Amino acid sequence: MSKIGIFFGTDTGSTRLVAKKIYSILGADIADKPKNINRTRVEELLQYDALILGTPSYGVGDLPGLAVGCQEANWAEFVPYLDDVDFSGKRIALFGLGHQERYASRFASSLIQLYRAFYGCGAQMVGRWSTEGYQFEHSDSIIDNQFVGLVLDQRGQAFLTDERLNVWLAQIKPLLLPELVQD
Ligand SMILES: Cc1cc2nc3c(=O)[nH]c(=O)nc-3n(C[C@H](O)[C@H](O)[C@H](O)COP(=O)(O)O)c2cc1C
Repeated sequence: MSKIGIFFGTDTGSTRLVAKKIYSILGADIADKPKNINRTRVEELLQYDALILGTPSYGVGDLPGLAVGCQEANWAEFVPYLDDVDFSGKRIALFGLGHQERYASRFASSLIQLYRAFYGCGAQMVGRWSTEGYQFEHSDSIIDNQFVGLVLDQRGQAFLTDERLNVWLAQIKPLLLPELVQD
């Protein structure tokens, strides 16, 4: 069975921390250690049939990257390399970090950009999440009244993160690794 690959972008470390929590909840039997997207090539993502990808929002609901003041290259520099790459047959779940109180008009809005990028490459996107329990005015990352992935707020609702992760991971595990269910 191929494992789940976990990749993240971060500027100040919160998304790395969440990626590590995801790894420790899933366990080394079914997931590989999380890796920063700024040290990753597209070919490494393609080695997996199942991926969990995480990003914070920066700028005006943008992906992190040099243009929005991040310290290093990030998702914004990685995404252009996805042009013409085929992710069909791959299953991908997304998680996004934001700060709903401070950025209420664009909460976790960058997540939709990862969604569009990988969906556009043919991936099957799984892991939508309810908007209940959050307080914000607008997020671009909502389709059919649900976030396109798990949204976490380490600034204002860190106390909910572990529970949200446990529920979401239990939901997506069989979607990412159907072999687990068949065993
Ligand atoms: C300059 C700046 C811009 C931000 N823009 C947004 C935003 O548009 N939407 C949002 O929900 N959060 C925004 N945030 C909050 C970050 O996404 C949040 O703090 C996140 O946890 C940072 O993750 P990291 O530590 O992995 O870099 C912004 C933070 C900063 C410092």
